[in-house]
Amino acid sequence: MRVRIKRYLEGRFTTQDYDLKIEGKPTVLEILTKIKEEIDPTLSFRAMCRASICGTCAVKVNGEHRLACNTRVEGEELTLEPVDGSQPIRDLVVSHEELYLGLKRAKVWFNPREENVKLTPSDLKKTEKAWDCILCGICNNVCPPLLEGREFGGPSLFTKLYRVLVDPRDGLDEERLKELTHFRVENCIHCSSCNLYCPKGCMPEKWIRVIEGKLIQKGYIQKKDEDFGFLGF
Ligand code: SF4
Ligand code: SF4
Ligand code: FES
Repeated sequence: MRVRIKRYLEGRFTTQDYDLKIEGKPTVLEILTKIKEEIDPTLSFRAMCRASICGTCAVKVNGEHRLACNTRVEGEELTLEPVDGSQPIRDLVVSHEELYLGLKRAKVWFNPREENVKLTPSDLKKTEKAWDCILCGICNNVCPPLLEGREFGGPSLFTKLYRVLVDPRDGLDEERLKELTHFRVENCIHCSSCNLYCPKGCMPEKWIRVIEGKLIQKGYIQKKDEDFGFLGF
């Protein structure tokens, strides 16, 4: 197999080819590890868990954003590139700084009420998909408004926010909603790329619709053409 890797070093990209003998259908991470261990120890990429849990190994595989550890490949040629829309650091490693800063600004953590509030199975069901998010950032890497540099919190941030926003045990309520207006949820164009590429099936666009509907209902943002009545707030 010929593996073509777009590498980044000191402000410029280069492309390097590696020829490997491959058996079966290895994962992209196995191929990268083989190159690093057997051919080129200078190749940099990021990975930890090897099991779709840590969210650190996102790369572009033949032009599509994927987790390297859960993407199996075969054939004669493979192209690997750093993900789009993130500052490259070295080779396939990109910065997650902006992603984490956004989460911090949006206070995506849980703020418990003083009184005890019971969580029902139906409350849990509402957020179970969003809890699967591993913060790999792929949804942001394929999100047109973010890639165009528009003001927008991004699908990963809204997925994390949704979990606490609809949790009856969270005490920030109105304060959280008001803060949310800074993240311009209305700039989502509902293209569903995030849903399509999320490796954990978290469906970010679905939660963005819920958040947008809540903000419209409360009068914090203007209603667009779409009707959010079906959300039942
Ligand atoms: S649906 Fe919205 S958040 Fe998801 S990729 Fe499209 S614009 Fe971005
Ligand atoms: S929602 Fe999916 S694609 Fe986005 S950061 Fe979480 S796991 Fe990754
Ligand atoms: S190595 Fe952890 S998600 Fe791929």
